[in-house]
Amino acid sequence: MIVTIDGPAGAGKSSVARKLAQALGYTYLDTGAMYRAVAWMALRQNIALSDAETLAELARTLPIRFGPLSPDGIQQVWIGEGDDAEEVTNAIRTPEVSQAASIISTHSPVRKALVKRQRQMALAAENGVVLEGRDTGTVVVPEAELKIFLTASPQERARRRAAELRAQGLEVSEEAMLKEQEERDVRDSQRTDSPLRRAPDAILLNTDGLDLDAVVQQILRLHEERC
Ligand code: C5P
Repeated sequence: MIVTIDGPAGAGKSSVARKLAQALGYTYLDTGAMYRAVAWMALRQNIALSDAETLAELARTLPIRFGPLSPDGIQQVWIGEGDDAEEVTNAIRTPEVSQAASIISTHSPVRKALVKRQRQMALAAENGVVLEGRDTGTVVVPEAELKIFLTASPQERARRRAAELRAQGLEVSEEAMLKEQEERDVRDSQRTDSPLRRAPDAILLNTDGLDLDAVVQQILRLHEERC
């Protein structure tokens, strides 16, 4: 079974998708982490964020490896191979990388390269898979059996993301978060290639005022109905 969870930044996708994958024993695929990994490397190598072709080559070739989910639901992300591999789990979550990821994700060649890799990874999963992102139900695996579109009010989303970053030791204000989030929302939903959209067959869940377990339980019920 393929489950997709799409929605804007801070809607709770990561926490919900991870918990759901754990509960179902499915593979978890964070597609946003792949855009972030490419953006992180582009910043490090001083590649212009407007250079679509060089960025696409990076998107095609950059070794990105996901570690297993830890019991507390954190997934390690590694870039590179062998002894040169570097853990970037926290480094790819900074506001600077968030903005850069949102910018590079507007380039069609970059999207094409990452969508191809994501689709291959999803179809290779032996059990089931939970994909999380912006276009997983519309573009990456449109044949998914269960599609969820998660949303929440901008204030609630900014509050959650600020708290998440603070837990990682990064000091950010909610106002700054709200501003950065608005810019990303506009860019993500107005880009011409695969803008953030709810798939016609996706179930809309607003997570305002709902705790994580309540959302996961709701999706588990929907999953059971489709089995
Ligand atoms: O989900 P996350 O906030 O980690 O994603 C970072 C950025 O990557 C998003 O703002 C979006 O621009 C881009 N992205 C995308 N398509 C996806 C996942 C993420 O364009 N499937």
